[in-house]
This record gives sequence, C-alpha cells and structure tokens, in this order.
Amino acid sequence: MTAVGIDALEIWTGNLKLDLPGTFAPQKGEDPEKYTKGLGLNASSFPDSYEDIVTMGANAAHRLMERKGLEPDDIGRIDVATESAFDNSKPVSTYVAGCLEQVFDGDFHHANKGERKFACIAGTQSLDDAYNWIKAGRNRGRAALVIATDTALYARGDAGEATQGAGAVAMLIDEDPSLVELSTHQGYGSADETDFLKPNQQFPSVDGKRSVQVYLARMREALEDYESVAGDVHPDDFAYAPFHTPFPGMVRKAALLAYRHVTRDTAVEDELAEEIGRQPRAEAFDDEESFHDALREYMDSLKDTDRYREWYAETIDPTLAISREVGNWYTGSVHIARASALKSALEAGKDMTGSTLLVGSYGSGAQAEIHAETVCPGWEEEIEALNVDEQLTARYEMDWADYEEVHDVHNHDMDVEMEEFTAPEGEFAFDGWGRMGERK
Ligand code: HMG
Repeated sequence: MTAVGIDALEIWTGNLKLDLPGTFAPQKGEDPEKYTKGLGLNASSFPDSYEDIVTMGANAAHRLMERKGLEPDDIGRIDVATESAFDNSKPVSTYVAGCLEQVFDGDFHHANKGERKFACIAGTQSLDDAYNWIKAGRNRGRAALVIATDTALYARGDAGEATQGAGAVAMLIDEDPSLVELSTHQGYGSADETDFLKPNQQFPSVDGKRSVQVYLARMREALEDYESVAGDVHPDDFAYAPFHTPFPGMVRKAALLAYRHVTRDTAVEDELAEEIGRQPRAEAFDDEESFHDALREYMDSLKDTDRYREWYAETIDPTLAISREVGNWYTGSVHIARASALKSALEAGKDMTGSTLLVGSYGSGAQAEIHAETVCPGWEEEIEALNVDEQLTARYEMDWADYEEVHDVHNHDMDVEMEEFTAPEGEFAFDGWGRMGERK
C-alpha cells in the first residue's frame, strides 16, 4: 500500500511580536511569571497592518511550492483551515490561489478548493480529507496543499488576551512523503459544547476555565477511542506527542492526563503508586468519591516523580518551543508542535526515521482527535529547510501603544488605516480590498 502523509511544510509567523512578561504583564498589573511559568508563554505573534490570514497562508504556501519545485499543475486540491475567515461565501483558498497565481506559471483551474471549519481541529481535518482523497485514488498523481491560517485575537480585557497569536502553516500532502506518514488509526472525542464560540462576531465568547476542562475531557475520550482501534498505548511507544497548544500550560495538563491514562492498570502504575504511596485503582475503594479524591492526590504527586518528569522532558517539552514564542495559532497550533518536536530532534542529532508521533488535535465546540504518524526517511532535510528561527528573530517588537493600535484595527475591517511597523519584503501583502495579497 502506498504511504500517504505530509511531504513538507512551511511556517509563516506574523511579523509583529508582543513580549508577554516584559510588556503585557506589567500593563495588566500581573506577575510576569504567570506567563513564563503558569501559561508557559514568552511572546505572541501578531500580523502587521498588511498581513492577514490570506497573506500569511499564501506566503507559507509560496515558500513551500518554491522550495519543492512545484507548479500549480502539481496541486489537485487546496484546503484552507481557519476560524478567522472574513468571507461567508468564497473560501479563503480561492484568495490564496489568486495570490499564488501571480508568481507561478499556470493556474489552479483544475484544483478542488475548499475551506474547513471546526475551530482549531480543522487543520487536522483538512489533512485527513487530503489523505482520504489520495488514498481513494482521486488525485490523478497530484498532491494536496493544506493551509492552516489564523489570527487568534480576543477582545481587549478578556482573559484569553494573554494567549493570542497569528500565523500560518502550509503542508504538502502526497504519496511517499518525506516527513511523516499518516495511519488509518484514529480516535475521536466529540460533544456539542459552548465554552468557546464566535457566532457572527470577530472575537470569541469564551469561558476560559471551562474550555480547559472541555479540552481535557475530549482528549481523554479520543485516547480511549484511539486505543479501541490501535490497541493499548504505552508511554514509550512514541518519540513525541505533539498536542494542540493554545498555550504550553494547557499541554502540561493534557500530558499528565494522557500519561495517567496510558499507564492505568499497568505495572508502571503499580511502581508509581508504590513510590507515591497512593492507590489510583478504583477497585481499592468502596465509593466513587473517595476514589476520585485519591486519584486527584495521586495525579498531584505523579507530576513530581522522576519517571514522569523524564518522560515529559523527552516526549512533550520539545513540542512546545515554537508555541512559547508565538502563542495560539488555532488551526496551525498542533502542526507547529509537530515541527517543533522534529526541529528539536534534528538539533539533538536524533535518528527519528521510523519513530512514532502520537498527535493530539483539538477544536473547541468541541472535538479531539488522536492519531499516530511515522517519521519518514528525508525528515531531516525537510526540517532543516525551515527558517522559523530567522522569522521569529526578525519580528518587530511592539510597545504597548503599538499593540493597542494593532489590536484595534485588526478587526476584519481592513479599510481602517494603520501605520506599518515593518515593510513587506518579497511577500504577499494586503493592499486594500480588490488588491488582495499583492506581492511586494
Ligand atoms: P487566567 O485567569 O488569565 O489565568 O486564565 P490563571 O489565573 O488561570 O493562571 C494561569 C496559570 O498560571 C495557572 O496555572 C496559574 O496557577 C498560573 P494552573 O493552575 O492552571 O496550572 N499562575 C502562575 N504561575 C507562576 N507564577 C505566578 C502565577 N500566576 C498564575 N505568579 C485562561 C487562563 C487559559 C483561562 C485564559 O488565558 C483563557 O481564557 N484563554 C483562552 C481560552 C483557552 O486558551 N483555552 C484552552 C483550552 S480550549 C482550546 O484549546 C481551544 C482554542 O484553541 C480555540 C479553538 O479550538 O478554536 C482556545
């Protein structure tokens, strides 16, 4: 059977940066350590006045196609995953294709274009759609372009303001991939929830504390469902576990839950229970309440054991490096977590070919999905080609007044005039309606 998966990817970060402990926390009268230690964030990425979901997505896709030597004819499908769309009719992929057609020979007239929406999980759903399309043999030898692009902004004063971000990830889905092969094993946890939603509004209505609990509940269900098809998972089965990362502190909670879940009723749990001195097995208790109290205490102690800390340092922490510097990218978030893990492996000289990644995607509303991926020969070259460090360093750092201006005008009303803090250089830039994504 032909392998299908992600052949290559490119990341495009918003050109502006907000220092969270240095600039944001003092303005809010908060301890900078709430950001660095609590949420796990150093900075957020923001779009400059000439950037939006189209330009960021097109810039990432352009870099990807150019690097891989592709022309429009090589692409049979373009899907954009976003929850920041500004057009309820035309999919964002048509705008992106329009940008790309300015610089490549040929056009995308025979490519199927669409837009996927289910909060942050839509990027992974688009990957699945592309995988299914290729596996079904409907691609006529062509590859699919999947672009996850978002401006994740919250209303000023909302608790979510601390976790904002903006950026795009473009992924090429193809046969015989060079980065990761996707598998047919998937698990879902899905339920109608209203903790985070945007009904005809720019900024989300969000019950932040509840959203954290909903994320954890759906992720646990997805893991259970995944194990029902793939068999029981052991913590050492996978090299990294990239999870949807609205902020690294969220993944700290999800990782603990996942670790407990995959070690439950095993010899590992017995050894940990002995070390911790707490019993996490339901059968040891007469009633549910005392079991839950004991389990909570066990979990509190579990995170401080050497065994868990080592697993977390090796399997989870490397997935968070980019996220710490950019904040939430919604649909792109789990895909920068994967890139971050592989980048860390490359820097550490690890041989990853054939290793497994356990990927946990999540979207409010709410749905989680767990699947496994296998790292392919060729991954080093693909990861080496990323210039994400240069992009992060090149961002213009906003002061508080700059931030307020950027936040006020990035409200899908691109007719509002705002000064540019950076100058577009060899990239698509928004230049007013009707001149979407002109290349500068
Ligand atoms: P908050 O009230 O700003 O922060 O809300 P907090 O008081 O809960 O503090 C955050 C953490 O920092 C806590 O850690 C504090 O203890 C710690 P925890 O107890 O949770 O482990 N802390 C400190 N640590 C060290 N030194 C200090 C200090 N002070 C505090 N001095 C909240 C945080 C996440 C709720 C808020 O930012 C929010 O509403 N964010 C938006 C919603 C969100 O991101 N939810 C995540 C799950 S839902 C999701 O991921 C989907 C999403 O991506 C959208 C989609 O799918 O479409 C959002």
